[in-house]
Amino acid sequence: MMMNRLKAALGAVTVGLLAGTSLAHAQGAEEDLIKKGEYVARLGDCVACHTALNGQKFAGGLAIKTPIGMIYSTNITPDPTYGIGTYTLQEFDEAVRHGIRKDGSTLYPAMPYPAFSRMTQDDVKSLYAYFMHGVQPVAQKNREVGISWPMSMRWPLAIWRTMFAPTPKDFTPAPGTDPEIARGEYLVTGAGHCGACHTPRGFAMQEKALDAAGGPDFLAGGAPIDNWIAPSLRNDPVVGLGRWSEDDLFQFLKSGRTDHSAVFGGMADVVGWSTQYFTDSDLHAIAKYLKALPPVPPSRGDYTYDPSTAQALDSGNTASNPGARVYVEQCAACHRNDGGGVARMFPPLAGNSVVVTDDPTSIAHIIVAGGVLPPTNWAPSAVAMPDYKSILSDQQIADVVNFIRSAWGNKAPANVTAADVQKLRLDHAPIPTAGWADPTAATATWGLFMPQPYGSGWTFAPQTHTGVDAEQ
Ligand code: HEC
Ligand code: HEC
Ligand code: HEC
Repeated sequence: MMMNRLKAALGAVTVGLLAGTSLAHAQGAEEDLIKKGEYVARLGDCVACHTALNGQKFAGGLAIKTPIGMIYSTNITPDPTYGIGTYTLQEFDEAVRHGIRKDGSTLYPAMPYPAFSRMTQDDVKSLYAYFMHGVQPVAQKNREVGISWPMSMRWPLAIWRTMFAPTPKDFTPAPGTDPEIARGEYLVTGAGHCGACHTPRGFAMQEKALDAAGGPDFLAGGAPIDNWIAPSLRNDPVVGLGRWSEDDLFQFLKSGRTDHSAVFGGMADVVGWSTQYFTDSDLHAIAKYLKALPPVPPSRGDYTYDPSTAQALDSGNTASNPGARVYVEQCAACHRNDGGGVARMFPPLAGNSVVVTDDPTSIAHIIVAGGVLPPTNWAPSAVAMPDYKSILSDQQIADVVNFIRSAWGNKAPANVTAADVQKLRLDHAPIPTAGWADPTAATATWGLFMPQPYGSGWTFAPQTHTGVDAEQ
């Protein structure tokens, strides 16, 4: 026994000595691959969904509420019993790009495999190396999906997959595309899965377009998720990124703030966990790609600042507008009478695209619930906006939302009612807007049997992770 072990040990030493240099070489290459995989995991923001609030990294268990019941993200640490430790590269690829679990059943598309289907095989290979060798195994059992039969059957998911998920294929840009723009397109439409939140969804909750070739719906703004609205990333000057420069986009994704906006809601998680870690050249590529997208017609015209609001507020002339009164008393200290805010601290509300976006849910939500502008490596201070749920009545919140949506030259309809705000408080229902975002539509006939990746009635995390978990 002893002898055998000794022999084995000696054998290993000999082999090691003989193969010394090439082994070190191979190890170096393996380490590079793991490092690259760690970066690809940042690009795909795997940690945001696969980590529960205050949970262990990648051990899964984040509760995702859907209209048909709870689903949970799974343990993707290399634990052989509870995680993906026994997955081969091919099985891992099947899950990540094809949406098929090791047992052959289809994953809920809450896992954004339709976007990941564009990832290159090289990127998937490095991801695999990272999850097998760069991540700590955690022996934590997956939670059972909280959906009862018959909705718990996974075969309708397979139908959905064949209808809506593209066949995985390494991303190839259109011939003649500028290489930097091509890289940006790969990041936005592939690993970055920006469309999962920013693209509107169709009758079966599929993204209406997975890339710019899919037409004006691509990145044209999504439905509420956790009562946050991901606005249009197209170049409309009023409700989109038309007035953002490439540098604004770069700053926003890297630090969470620019002179005319601050990240909040679901996007705070994206910046906090994912984009702040992107290389500068990848962030520039994304900015360049987004700025190269054509605006979505019809344009809302352009924004012009209207100084008469500030004049009225300065002179105390708010008697005729209850929303203006609330604003002066509660909000102006930070956001200022001129709606200009304080650069990199309190975002301006004048001409801010998220304030005038069609669906007012996010704006009402941030006033009800408050927000923390997350600290990032590039802007380490966390700045908070207080919550007003116990300070203002539903009517006062509706009034102030309507005020900021139509002050300083902002031109959004001032039609939020106290009942809308009440709903937002009580059952966290988003404020209904026209069309498919109607909460009842999500459970309509088709919807019932079809998986519904995101949309009305879905909750990923009631709080954003940022600021909750110390370790990111
Ligand atoms: C938007 C949320 C989200 C993101 C981002 C996400 N996942 Fe998932 N993932 C899920 C959910 C939810 C499931 C479980 C789905 C189910 O049970 O059908 C899942 C399942 C998986 C599985 C299958 C595990 C198993 O038990 O078979 C793997 C592997 C996986 N994800 C890897 C990744 C990797 C790698 C990334 C980053 C590149 C990633 N995921 C990003 C939500 C996400
Ligand atoms: C989990 C959902 C989600 C994902 C994924 C997501 N976003 Fe967002 N995004 C939001 C929400 C919600 C907002 C509105 C809050 C804000 O402005 O910070 C937003 C806002 C933005 C804004 C500011 C828009 C404006 O008019 O103020 C930009 C730029 C942006 N996202 C870019 C991206 C990019 C690029 C990606 C992919 C790398 C991405 N987002 C992925 C949810 C998401
Ligand atoms: C103490 C300073 C402070 C006060 C008072 C305050 N806010 Fe804010 N506000 C902030 C900060 C900081 C953010 C960014 C929060 C985040 O990123 O989560 C913000 C964000 C917002 C946003 C989202 C805009 C964006 O681009 O991020 C809106 C809309 C808003 N506030 C409206 C209001 C209204 C209306 C009131 C009064 C009822 C108010 N705020 C009171 C500091 C304040």
